Amino acid sequence: MLKESVEKALNEQINAELYSAYLYQSMAAYFEDKSLAGFAHWMDLQAEEEQAHARKIYDFVNERGGRVVLEGIEKPKSDWNSNLEVFEDSLEHEEKVTAMINDLVALAEEEKDYATHSFLQWFVDEQVEEEDTFGEIVDKLRLVGDSTQSLFMMDDKLGARAEAPAEEE
Ligand code: FEO
Repeated sequence: MLKESVEKALNEQINAELYSAYLYQSMAAYFEDKSLAGFAHWMDLQAEEEQAHARKIYDFVNERGGRVVLEGIEKPKSDWNSNLEVFEDSLEHEEKVTAMINDLVALAEEEKDYATHSFLQWFVDEQVEEEDTFGEIVDKLRLVGDSTQSLFMMDDKLGARAEAPAEEE
């Protein structure tokens, strides 16, 4: 059985993951509008991954006899000044998600909820990967600068992103 404090925090995390999906979908729409199909595809898949993250927590709460309560999802930003700014924002967002996961881990420890603590380890590892991936794209976009040719090459590369197998999402 989940303690109320842990249940509340897990519900907040479900909301944060769904907001992430919404934010990345908004970024996909931005790239779609700029005819950067590869960037849009990459963000589409990222939005799907975030939905899978939310689902993972949703299933866990139910499995532990908790109650999932969905809240409203904040309206995401829809416009950016540059492709680089989109990825800088997404990296900053992932850093916030990491902080939330860390707080959840600390809470699980405080409440001696070792099952939740163990469940969260997947998310701890995932956040390392997420920050690394977004950080790498930010670095590349800084190198691309104003070169249209490099941007198109990057668009091709991001367009080749494959869907993650279900268990790795
Ligand atoms: Fe679910 Fe990108 O953190």
